[in-house]
Amino acid sequence: MHGTPSRIDFQSFQFQACYAVKKPIRFNAFLMNCVTHLAPGQWLAEGDRAPDYLAPSYWTDLARLLERGRFDAVFLGDVLGVYDVYDGGPDAALRQAAQVPMNDPLAVIPLMSQVTAHLCFGVTCSLSYEHPYTFSRRMSTLDHLTHGRIGWNIVTSYLDSAARNIGLDRQLSHDQRYDLADEYMEVCYKLWEGSWEDGAVVKDRVKGVYTDPSKVHPIAHEGTYYKVPGFHMCEPSPQRTPVLFQAGSSGRGKQFAGTHAECVFVAGPTRKIVARTVADIRAQASSLGRDGTASLAIFAMMTVVVGRSDEEVQQKLAAYRARASYEGAAALLSGWTGIDLAQYAPDDTLSYVDTDAGRSALASFSSADPERTWTVKEAIEYVSLGGRGPLVAGTPERVADELEAWITETGLDGFNLTYLSAHQTFADIVELLVPELQRRGLYREQYEAGTYREKLFAAGPRLSADHPGAGYAKR
Ligand SMILES: Cc1cc2nc3c(=O)[nH]c(=O)nc-3n(C[C@H](O)[C@H](O)[C@H](O)COP(=O)(O)O)c2cc1C
Repeated sequence: MHGTPSRIDFQSFQFQACYAVKKPIRFNAFLMNCVTHLAPGQWLAEGDRAPDYLAPSYWTDLARLLERGRFDAVFLGDVLGVYDVYDGGPDAALRQAAQVPMNDPLAVIPLMSQVTAHLCFGVTCSLSYEHPYTFSRRMSTLDHLTHGRIGWNIVTSYLDSAARNIGLDRQLSHDQRYDLADEYMEVCYKLWEGSWEDGAVVKDRVKGVYTDPSKVHPIAHEGTYYKVPGFHMCEPSPQRTPVLFQAGSSGRGKQFAGTHAECVFVAGPTRKIVARTVADIRAQASSLGRDGTASLAIFAMMTVVVGRSDEEVQQKLAAYRARASYEGAAALLSGWTGIDLAQYAPDDTLSYVDTDAGRSALASFSSADPERTWTVKEAIEYVSLGGRGPLVAGTPERVADELEAWITETGLDGFNLTYLSAHQTFADIVELLVPELQRRGLYREQYEAGTYREKLFAAGPRLSADHPGAGYAKR
């Protein structure tokens, strides 16, 4: 079962590459605006705050805690459909609160930004079901309100249930969703970067002119999927284009990430699988004329259980395992892969097939590592405690060693940390792990100044010159 120290792949790693630890190791806290994100069953624990997600204080307390721990960002996932693949319907997901009920992630960002000065916000928004004209305005509004602390995790969705509720028979095919996404990005770049020149907003009280009309340009976009004749409704925000995240790792997903992403979110159970994905994405970006190392920050999903002693850690793990919901995890994994796992016996081996849901989720439990096979039960138990990333458990020293090894052997920049207990998992990280990493010089003591993009890349607030979106700017 995922989570026991013996399951953590300390010795078996044979990959040749070795990267220097970049400073700082970056942490994002990975949540959704719901009860159960990636740890079905854990909300049952006494004192667990997950069911309080409806209260503003759930978010403001979290934001203050993470800023105290010098986290880069809160990274909010989102889905627009219910996990109804498992056992042919939504009952398992509803019973286990497996990413349903689910509130809008954008709404909690102003709550958190109001009580923090540096913490940034990566928010998942699907481009399959919203027009870029309206979506780009919401992002600009948030970039203004947070003073440039916004990132967008670009997703194309993977649940047919979302497509059906928006009036389609089913979602577009896997690769077609990425084709649509490429055009969507073009429209967004034109609106964010191209339609308002720097200096368009003059705010001239003497002449009574707010905006100089000669510096605002209709984008005249006519493509396969979208037609947008006019200009962006918002005046330029601090970053204009929010920091761009992407999380698809299929062949087409990596191509999209190499083109557009500034940050990539990957997930895999072992360093070997993650190292290969990281290398592929960086190579893909470099082949497209970008700097695949300096212009891309890559984060892996991980769950950390840290305690003051080995005994405390073992006690926590035992309690987490006892509460973990097999049914909830089966609903999630079936949704991610598009395969109804109820059709299989627990000891059946998972094998890869192309589906129109996400492809990398199934690949990481089948084709990604030919030396490792997974039964249905093993994969479900694995994802029940934190999803598709590894679970690393131990004292602060032990966990810090492990994180260092992940960074040096994979070329990652940091981790999107999931939680098992709200907000205790993050409190333990802030109080126990962060000081250990700081003692080793591997974690920031203070925040860098500026917008999200400036904190990440020590450059300006705008897209770097090698990014395709920068070409749309009228400077
Ligand atoms: C770590 C991780 C987090 C993700 N979070 C979300 C999410 O919150 N919402 C969503 O619709 N898709 C999410 N995805 C799915 C991806 O955006 C993508 O749609 C999916 O992986 C399928 O693309 P692929 O086949 O190219 O891998 C996530 C994927 C990964 C690997």
